[in-house]
Amino acid sequence: MYKYLLTSSLGLEALVKKEVQKQDYEISEVQDKAIYFLGWIEAIARMNLWSRFGNVLYLVLWEEEKVRDFDAYFDIVYKQDWKKYIPEGYEVVVNATAIKSELWAVSTLQWVAKKAIVKSLVGEGKLRENTEKGVVEIRILMENDTLRILLNTSGVGLHRRGYRELTGQAPLKENVAAALVILSGWKFREPLYDLFCGSWTIAIEALMIAKNVAPGLKRKFAFQNWNWIPREVMEDEKKRAVEMQFAWEYKIYASDMRKEVVESAKRSASFAGFSWEIEFSCQDYKEAIRKGISGYIVSNPPYGLRLDEDDSEGIHKGLAEYFTQPNILWGIISSDLEFEKRSKTKYKKRKLYNWWELCYFYKKI
Ligand SMILES: C[S@@+](CC[C@H](N)C(=O)[O-])C[C@H]1O[C@@H](n2cnc3c(N)ncnc32)[C@H](O)[C@@H]1O
Repeated sequence: MYKYLLTSSLGLEALVKKEVQKQDYEISEVQDKAIYFLGWIEAIARMNLWSRFGNVLYLVLWEEEKVRDFDAYFDIVYKQDWKKYIPEGYEVVVNATAIKSELWAVSTLQWVAKKAIVKSLVGEGKLRENTEKGVVEIRILMENDTLRILLNTSGVGLHRRGYRELTGQAPLKENVAAALVILSGWKFREPLYDLFCGSWTIAIEALMIAKNVAPGLKRKFAFQNWNWIPREVMEDEKKRAVEMQFAWEYKIYASDMRKEVVESAKRSASFAGFSWEIEFSCQDYKEAIRKGISGYIVSNPPYGLRLDEDDSEGIHKGLAEYFTQPNILWGIISSDLEFEKRSKTKYKKRKLYNWWELCYFYKKI
């Protein structure tokens, strides 16, 4: 059995833990931003394909307690089977984190590990690295003098589903958008609205959750370039994932007052395979509410410093008024920490991070 680490954004650990358990893997440890679990080789493909809320899936190559000097550290890194893990010509990137440890100098940890890896691969020779061929990321975790050597199996972060163009105003990170849909309590049968949809991230993630579509089906992962993992592992997991999709129809509505965001959002939805399953309209949020809404609103209205030209404060006040309508269940994400005070209403709050920004998900009680 292998040990894995699925990293998470702060605040999403419980959701990440649940999605690992849903795939029948045994959790061995949960820490802030880190979920460790045990699984066979297929877990590399399965969790990369199915993680909606996680950031990166690492394979734990080695764990050792009481590593307190650089000589011992060098030897442990050196003795790993790097010829197996690093395809010829690939660039080797070493990142490190140190918490409460005697070996705390991150740049030295990185430098020594790279030296040990190079020596293990080519002896005293020079390692030829070509970024265009590919990159392997090794992560060193030093925590309370316990060393963990990790291999990045995902490549770029798992929030990159492969459907979205990197445009739009302040787009929400895809795994945060998926988390909002779950935290809102939406049960799939009622209509779901995003009245500030930008690049449709919430709508697309909601549809993928409702239809049980594996979020990683449209992208590639680092491990797919490694010849020690049989090709069939991924092929079998993809086949299994496709068989698990539901073909029900859902009522998902996305609207935004800006025409220019629509075209790129439509392309994203079409690439995700959903353009005709999300109903889009170009309108102000008040107009949408006036026309009559019943169901769930999950939105990411403009807020913070990045969207100066929008009337964020006015929108927040306006939204608070509609929080009282009994036929509408609301949930919005905002970095406006005064929102609750200004709207003089109590919400169920959940602390989250969108990228690096502290936010709250305010949910109507
Ligand atoms: C933070 S962005 C939403 C980003 C989106 N969640 C995404 O992932 O791309 C806020 C959006 O609200 C829209 N907006 C601003 N004021 C609005 C209003 N009064 N009515 C409707 N949409 C509005 C902006 O055009 C922008 O796309």
